Amino acid sequence: MERLPGFRDFYPEPLPHQDVWSADARQYIFEKWRAIARRYGFREYDGPPLEPLELFTTKSGAEIVGQLYNFMDKGERAVSLRPEMTPTLARMVAAHERNYKKPIKWFAIPQLFRYERQQKGRLREHFQFNADLIGETDPAADAELIALLIDTLRAFGLTAEDFVIRLSSRNAWHDFFKHGGGDTAHEYDFFQVIDKLERSAPEESEKKLSAMGFSVAQVNEFITSGKPTAELQSILDNLAARGLKDFVKIDYQVIRGLAYYTGVVFEAFDRKGEFRAIAGGGRYNNLVKLISGGKVDLPALGFGMGDVVLLEILKARGLLPKFDSPMDVYVLIEDEALRPDSLKLIHELRAAGYAVEYPLTPTKSDKQFKRAQELKVARTARLENDSYVRIRNLKTREEIVTGIAGAANHLG
Ligand code: HAM
Repeated sequence: MERLPGFRDFYPEPLPHQDVWSADARQYIFEKWRAIARRYGFREYDGPPLEPLELFTTKSGAEIVGQLYNFMDKGERAVSLRPEMTPTLARMVAAHERNYKKPIKWFAIPQLFRYERQQKGRLREHFQFNADLIGETDPAADAELIALLIDTLRAFGLTAEDFVIRLSSRNAWHDFFKHGGGDTAHEYDFFQVIDKLERSAPEESEKKLSAMGFSVAQVNEFITSGKPTAELQSILDNLAARGLKDFVKIDYQVIRGLAYYTGVVFEAFDRKGEFRAIAGGGRYNNLVKLISGGKVDLPALGFGMGDVVLLEILKARGLLPKFDSPMDVYVLIEDEALRPDSLKLIHELRAAGYAVEYPLTPTKSDKQFKRAQELKVARTARLENDSYVRIRNLKTREEIVTGIAGAANHLG
């Protein structure tokens, strides 16, 4: 039986095959994501992986709706696996926002599902670090969130030479569109042409833009002008005060594909442009209102960072640590008569917080020692009798004999 295309198996290292993913690397990434989010005062939340289909068809936009893993469940409900976290977050916040002080700063690490064409950096399932800030309109919130994004990437050892945050604004594009005489009803169509500009043939973009009364040259001129709006300037100043100026640049080419973004938008890319976007986000000031049917109106912004592209970059830059999880102690059981006392010792050492291994069944002593070495244990412990244990430091070869009760004190 093979796994489905675009889905991954995660194995502990050393990896048995090129075509599988590292469970250790995944854990490493999750731990860093959590640590940095907490440092910025974000709290963890989660929601269901399966949601009513309607949650995603409301406001995410055509692109993501076309990629939904949706079906009818046995209760005749139209449901979908979550392709992104933001609508779930908006629903959760709208339901209980009164219980939380504003601004709400929450993060999550959901597994998401999108029926995409499989390609480099894009699979049908990925884990995405989401950090969102709800209840604050001031650009200081945007700067705080972008600082978190930058520091998250820096926590993996990436520098300003490796990545850049391309900062843009739908407000700036909205003004451009309006001044150019664009029809408001087609504004999102226009945004989608801009979103695809880098990846589309120029003739195709020209055709679509001219139908809306614009040209590629006009659009490109606006992009290259790169003049920050007052709002973007205030974000740049805020980041500069933190010493993070070199990690951001204004880039109006970025507009984001999802329909719900309302203002500042941004994407993180590797500087060399070899990979797909590492992360993307922005303001979505109307989504909570829309999802709550007008009951709750809260401004919001956030970003999502996937594990797939991040891992590709960390691998390419040699930034992944070596993953072996050495055990602390291997308890040798050479005399089976001492197995019950050995089990007691093992249990006590584990209760004291040590990682302990031992032979599950009667095993020749040379095999036990070999296993201890494979596990890279710091020490072996062997009962001398029912009261004393011999502890050996495998590095220094130092040995001590101590009473079983105090054995844990000799392991630190
Ligand atoms: P997104 O741009 O669709 O935004 O996804 C964010 C990131 O998730 C991407 O930059 C990429 O790293 C990763 N990603 C997306 N799709 C895939 C895929 N098929 N395979 C691997 N990685 C993928 C959102 O999802 C927004 N909801 C983010 C957000 C949160 N905006 C506000 N708050």
